[in-house]
Amino acid sequence: MSNLILALESSCDETAVALLKDGIIIKEYVASQLEHEAFGGVVPELASRAHQRSIVPTLDRVMNRLETPLSSITHIAYTQGPGLLGALLVGVSFAKALAFSLGIPALPIHHLKAHIFANFLNNPKPSLPFLSLVVSGGHTQLIWVEDYYKMTILGETRDDAAGEAFDKIAKIMGFPYPGGIHIDKNSKNGNPKAFKFPITNMENFDFSFSGIKTSFLYFVEKQKKQNPNFIKENLEDICASVQYAIVKMLTKKVIKAVKYKNAKSVVLGGGVVSNSFLKSELNKESKEGGWKLFYPSNNHCMDNAAMVGSAANYILKNNLPIITDLGVEPKARIPL
Ligand code: KG4
Ligand code: ZN
Repeated sequence: MSNLILALESSCDETAVALLKDGIIIKEYVASQLEHEAFGGVVPELASRAHQRSIVPTLDRVMNRLETPLSSITHIAYTQGPGLLGALLVGVSFAKALAFSLGIPALPIHHLKAHIFANFLNNPKPSLPFLSLVVSGGHTQLIWVEDYYKMTILGETRDDAAGEAFDKIAKIMGFPYPGGIHIDKNSKNGNPKAFKFPITNMENFDFSFSGIKTSFLYFVEKQKKQNPNFIKENLEDICASVQYAIVKMLTKKVIKAVKYKNAKSVVLGGGVVSNSFLKSELNKESKEGGWKLFYPSNNHCMDNAAMVGSAANYILKNNLPIITDLGVEPKARIPL
């Protein structure tokens, strides 16, 4: 059966709305909150207030001048969590109230699963089962995905997320928040072997990124004592070297997990997937290993609502059980 899904995302610092017909985006908009930059990280209270201010204008921006009126929407999909509770509250309350007023079901969606199902916005779509690497500002997980409701965590970070490591290191270098993209951009002409940073190898499929952050801090402090302009004069080499270490920690575990599960496909999701070196390394590995690599376009790696709609469309098209209870609460943490 055909569906027209209005999807909402408000788990962190992006207020996003998307309209999808049978999993194909008709229109979408992501309102990014700029008020956190000055604080070097997301301030939860400011995020909640910004969602409150922008959720109606964002919806209006998507629906305005479309031939499809709100009354033709068949389902609302919204992020239930994980994320910042106050931020989620805005989207969840808004989604449920809108669904109630339209007399249609509201489907709660898991944010990390939505990052994975962002890959179903593209063609060809990955075939299940597959191995998924979800790497964002808050999460780093290797997941074996059999279906939307059947996911098993093979490994995860014991401390910082990969995006958090990028952001904390970028902050030490003086880049604005979120700094991951600045490290990526400034790496392009740098030598990844110029400086050596620790590539932590945890047991099994787990990750740890706190070591590299600490060693980076000591390294920079030591170098700056000898040359106060050290960062400025070596910017590209430093960025390329630190990016090399973070990406290697991720790719090593992906390769190990592919062999362990005999995976035919690897599906990437989350903001850090925008990183060009991560994608080029995994592209190389996939060719050598004979497996397929899938990743969303950069705008669908970062938080967005189209991925939430895509996950809901998958659930509906595959006749999986749906939750339509209007008593659903947002949750800061939800198991997969
Ligand atoms: O998935 P996302 O938009 O939000 C969360 O759910 O966390 O991910 C944001 C994270 C930030 O840590 C940001 O620095 C990182 O993704 N990121 C990058 C790049 N673009 C975004 N990290 C490395 N290289 C990039 N090009
Ligand atoms: Zn995210």
